[in-house]
Amino acid sequence: MGRLFWKLFAALFLALISTVITVGNIVQWELHQKHPHMQKVPSQSWSAANRSTPAPNSQNQTGYVHSSNELNYVELLLNFPFSALVFCLITSAIFAGILAWSISHPIKLLLEHLKTAADGNLLIRVSPKIKVSHDEFAELGAAFDLMALRLNSMIKSQSNMLHHVSHELRSPLARIQMAVGLVMQNPKKMQSSLQRVELEAVRMEKMIAELLEIFRLESGMQKLQKTDLDLKGLLAGIVGDVQFEKQDARIHLDMPDKVILINGQLELLQRAIENVVRNAVKYGPALGKVAIELQRSERTGEVIIEVQDQGNGVEQQELEQIFKPFIRGRSASQIDGHGIGLAMTKHIVEAHGGYVKASNLSPIGFMVRIHLPLANKSSAG
Ligand SMILES: Nc1ncnc2c1ncn2[C@@H]1O[C@H](COP(=O)(O)OP(=O)(O)O)[C@@H](O)[C@H]1O
Ligand SMILES: [Mg+2]
Repeated sequence: MGRLFWKLFAALFLALISTVITVGNIVQWELHQKHPHMQKVPSQSWSAANRSTPAPNSQNQTGYVHSSNELNYVELLLNFPFSALVFCLITSAIFAGILAWSISHPIKLLLEHLKTAADGNLLIRVSPKIKVSHDEFAELGAAFDLMALRLNSMIKSQSNMLHHVSHELRSPLARIQMAVGLVMQNPKKMQSSLQRVELEAVRMEKMIAELLEIFRLESGMQKLQKTDLDLKGLLAGIVGDVQFEKQDARIHLDMPDKVILINGQLELLQRAIENVVRNAVKYGPALGKVAIELQRSERTGEVIIEVQDQGNGVEQQELEQIFKPFIRGRSASQIDGHGIGLAMTKHIVEAHGGYVKASNLSPIGFMVRIHLPLANKSSAG
């Protein structure tokens, strides 16, 4: 038994004893109020206390006798019913023990499990051991288990992420080392090697910046600086940029006439939508069409940005996975990329109160739909 048990035991035991004594005194006082000229004296001692006064009913264990004297406390103590006191002590000890155990035992169990969790074992579960109590301790145990489960999966996903990051950073670093080695062997290759170094450095910088953005959005550290944005203008700008970089891309943009306003942070939303448009161009066939449609739904109060391409899409079981960092479709292995784009899109869209969904089209094609809530004042226009 721990210290808490004995503290609780002592407190409860004293509380029970004092309650019993108080109740006893109150009963005695009540009797005294009702029969002011009578005094309760235990039967085995009445003769000692009042030898000259016979008991009114000698068959009874307890009797009332007239007394004109003040209560004699010493005699009362001597005549105290000690068997009742022993009984009271034993029952109080039993109840105090049970109560103290029912409180201290789950706390002790929780403490032991917390120590085990602090040592790194997050697979332990405490609720099966204390759920029988069906009280707040059972809830505490369930909350502890849930916390351990979440922490475990968070740690797993972070170490997964770390593994992917180091893996993704190794390839550009290896190429930089190769470029440097090449210049050392042949100084004439200085120009092309420096270009390679710059390219790889830019790639790494972009990847790290995107990762940091995901971490910030995930942790909720980043407070969005929202303003009302003209979504049609934003989309036209993105399409213009992508088209400029890939002149032969066939991008069709279909937008309603009305102005569409959404409330959000410009650069983030721009990046989220751009990732999807770039993917459609990158993974679609060389001369395939990319159709972007902007729809506004008054019924649901949202705006939908639909991006379709004519590529092969992803395997059905990959549809959810591709929104996780560093997860790439099997057919994407030959195409340049890190698998961060869609994870970022998802985080940004969700931070703006929306959601994103991907689906394969029949017979061929891939579609990503971004749902975002309309700004309150969006009906203007
Ligand atoms: N339009 C698309 N068509 C086919 N597959 C796609 C498309 N967009 C995304 N994907 C799949 O989703 C994966 C994750 O995409 P993303 O996060 O943008 O990373 P990356 O493009 O760097 O691989 C891609 O690797 C690819 O397998
Ligand atoms: Mg991408």
